[in-house]
Amino acid sequence: MPNASPLVTVMMAAARKGARVLARDFGEVENLQVSRKGPADFVTAADKMSEEKIFESLRHDRPGYGYLMEERGEVGGSDKTHRFIIDPLDGTLNFMHGNPHFSISIGVERDGELHAGVIYDLMRDEMFFAETGHGAFLLDSRGIEKRLRVPNRSDITECIIATGTPWLGKPGHAKFLKELHKVMAHSAGIRRFGSAALDLAWVAAGRFDGFWERGLQPWDIAAGIVIAREAGAIVQELDTENPNPMGSGDIICSGKALLPEFMQHLT
Ligand code: IPD
Ligand code: CA
Ligand code: CA
Repeated sequence: MPNASPLVTVMMAAARKGARVLARDFGEVENLQVSRKGPADFVTAADKMSEEKIFESLRHDRPGYGYLMEERGEVGGSDKTHRFIIDPLDGTLNFMHGNPHFSISIGVERDGELHAGVIYDLMRDEMFFAETGHGAFLLDSRGIEKRLRVPNRSDITECIIATGTPWLGKPGHAKFLKELHKVMAHSAGIRRFGSAALDLAWVAAGRFDGFWERGLQPWDIAAGIVIAREAGAIVQELDTENPNPMGSGDIICSGKALLPEFMQHLT
């Protein structure tokens, strides 16, 4: 892995440990223990166990760093300059239904700024990674590492746009339908695959030209923001153009040339 720094290598190793748990449980989906966090918000024993393995691995390799984890929450560290942001299973609903599209997402902040990210799609054995200032890469299942660069398409009629739809218990259905109506009328196609982390990684890889979703959590997007940016995409908050969408979780991401027209359809 010529382009992975020691920190990114540590994050990849942790992601692979979480992935082992998920791979085992995915093979036995019908036996999964499932609990509800809220309306239509599920957590499996696999989410929790994956997080434990990731946490254990990172804590061993980077003692002192702080954490923000989806299942365990905030864990402080003696090193106040670094914080890992972890989603141990992004795409739980797909996972529970035997749909092989989900990921592990690990981001890290340095001095309060997003610094590096790793997103692992274990079903395809694709490891996306990036570190600020060093580019974004995909390490594929053959062990080949390739640099990711967002294509510079400007014509939305040629573009595939990914999104996340609100569901039972989540606000914003009417607003989303308005946005969807406009974007689908102008673009070549819309996709809703169910892992926001992979949506961002796939924009970085040029598989999607753009992505928008509202109400995401920091662990859904921390790693993906760094990966998409390092591949040349613009990532910002929907509505405000604030370059940091982590607060509201309302995010838009695409290549620079596409962004003005894409944004126009979301207002
Ligand atoms: C979900 C996925 C999904 C997005 C949801 C997230 P989870 O994460 O990223 O694509 O639409 O908003 O909550 O719950 O599977 O970790
Ligand atoms: Ca998530
Ligand atoms: Ca999750």
